[in-house]
Amino acid sequence: MRDAARDPNLPHADPAPYRALVRSPKARHIDVIDQRALPHALVRVKIGDAEAAALAIRRMWIRGAPLIGAVGAYGMALALDREASDGALAQAHAALDATRPTAINLRWALDRVRAKVAPLAPSARADAAWAEADAIAAEDVAINHAIGEHGLALLRGIAQRRPGPIRVMTHCNAGALATCGWGTATAPLFLAQAEGLPLQVWVSETRPRMQGASLTAWELGQRGIPHTLLPDSASGLLMQRGDVDVVFVGADRVARNGDTCNKIGTYDKALAARDNNVPFYVALPSPTIDWSLASGDAIPIETRDTDEVLTVAGRDDYGQTVRVAIAPHGTKAVNYAFDVTPARLVTGLVTERGVTRASKEWLAAMFPERA
Ligand code: MRU
Repeated sequence: MRDAARDPNLPHADPAPYRALVRSPKARHIDVIDQRALPHALVRVKIGDAEAAALAIRRMWIRGAPLIGAVGAYGMALALDREASDGALAQAHAALDATRPTAINLRWALDRVRAKVAPLAPSARADAAWAEADAIAAEDVAINHAIGEHGLALLRGIAQRRPGPIRVMTHCNAGALATCGWGTATAPLFLAQAEGLPLQVWVSETRPRMQGASLTAWELGQRGIPHTLLPDSASGLLMQRGDVDVVFVGADRVARNGDTCNKIGTYDKALAARDNNVPFYVALPSPTIDWSLASGDAIPIETRDTDEVLTVAGRDDYGQTVRVAIAPHGTKAVNYAFDVTPARLVTGLVTERGVTRASKEWLAAMFPERA
């Protein structure tokens, strides 16, 4: 397995015309989309050493919990290609783990590669790390496809209950760009489209990073799915007006009681959904569950540069990317990247094993070997 998303030998290959992560056969590097350039340009960059992998994660050339995990795993392989001593292994793990704090998939993937290679002789470690990173990437595609199948069943139910397009609201980008294929919250949409179910997707996260606008709108456009961008602050109104059938969001870390950490603004949507009886589902691969956390209270919330709040960047009429200030010089700002939605506001967790309630008992019943 190399190109996890498109390998025709893999079951459930994602037919998308773009892939967030590619490893060519036998290559000792990976290629990723530099997501900072989207939606204006599709730029691919080569990641050829562990430092570049760390930079790509930290600076958000790549992002999205599952993709961060996969790139982290390949970062371990790249580090071990250079030196595979015990010290180098520990250093690579620590350096990559320090890149971003919230998505648990990163730690999960780094731990998994370390556990695989640590018992081996140093000379065998790099090859084993590449193989493990390939396995993580391939599994991610299969997991997301399974999430898609379970989410699709929910969408079919909505289609049976009311005529017209299924109106799905999502937040940020939990699409194929956030993963090795299919996405998490988007996988049900892509499968629904393949099945001919009509969709209308409400797309948000227009502040602070505008990933709904720049990434999800781009992905849905690439796949020909009708969608409408809204300012984050309009979600409540749309739900109140009865214009939303269901909310599907992704997750960066889920505590074992079902509390869900996702891109900032998710909690507000969950509150509005509850007040308006709109089902609110979280799509997550099991590596996003942090079994060590009893609740979401202890999830580290990344704070980012306040420039993301105080300025906006975009492309002008001449094709130049420009960043402009939107607040008085010297204004104080806060920039939390994530929030935690309490389990009680979550209608269900859509995992690769099926849909379950967001509770300690139900999650443990679905993943008894992990609980
Ligand atoms: O800051 P990011 O872009 O790495 O955050 C991840 C996200 O885009 C979302 O929170 C997403 O819903 C979870 S990743 C499938």
